[in-house]
Amino acid sequence: MRGEPRIAVYAGSFDPIHNGHLDIVERCRKVFDEVIVAVLSNQEKSPTFSTEERVEIIRAELVGLADCRVESFSGLLVDFVKEVGASAIVRGLRAVSDFEYEFQMALMNRRLNPAVETVFMMPREDYIYLSSRLVKEVYFFGGNLEGLVPPKVLRRLASLPPPGP
Ligand code: PNS
Repeated sequence: MRGEPRIAVYAGSFDPIHNGHLDIVERCRKVFDEVIVAVLSNQEKSPTFSTEERVEIIRAELVGLADCRVESFSGLLVDFVKEVGASAIVRGLRAVSDFEYEFQMALMNRRLNPAVETVFMMPREDYIYLSSRLVKEVYFFGGNLEGLVPPKVLRRLASLPPPGP
């Protein structure tokens, strides 16, 4: 017997999305009925890509997946989770070094809304070392990102001005 659809919010900055993120979306889809990729609208973090660009890039990657949608949010994540009727926050865990920050966030979010569970998922081993920050750094220094980001993200990176001195 099935009750309410199980909706997960996979939240992050996604500046830009990479294959490790997309791997987590695939894992979420196996466990939840609907996955909402929630892009933080974070002007204070001075993202490389605007909120609109990040949403557009992810939408293009997930096009055709009826169980996935992409939204931006600002303010508290738990408020967004409640607003969309989700019951879980999903976060990707790569290395032990991620753990302390994620643990703090999960416990704070639980305090703010005890009805919301945080679920951690591990990406495929090939993506364990991958982060949006490293993607940008490798790109700007001419490194090979093949297999690490979708081709559309590579094209977006190519449209950015070169980094300053
Ligand atoms: O990809 P990131 O930058 O690690 O994602 C961090 C994110 C978006 C999950 C986190 O910064 C967040 O939830 N921000 C919204 C504000 C909020 O709810 N802060 C309290 C979290 S305990």
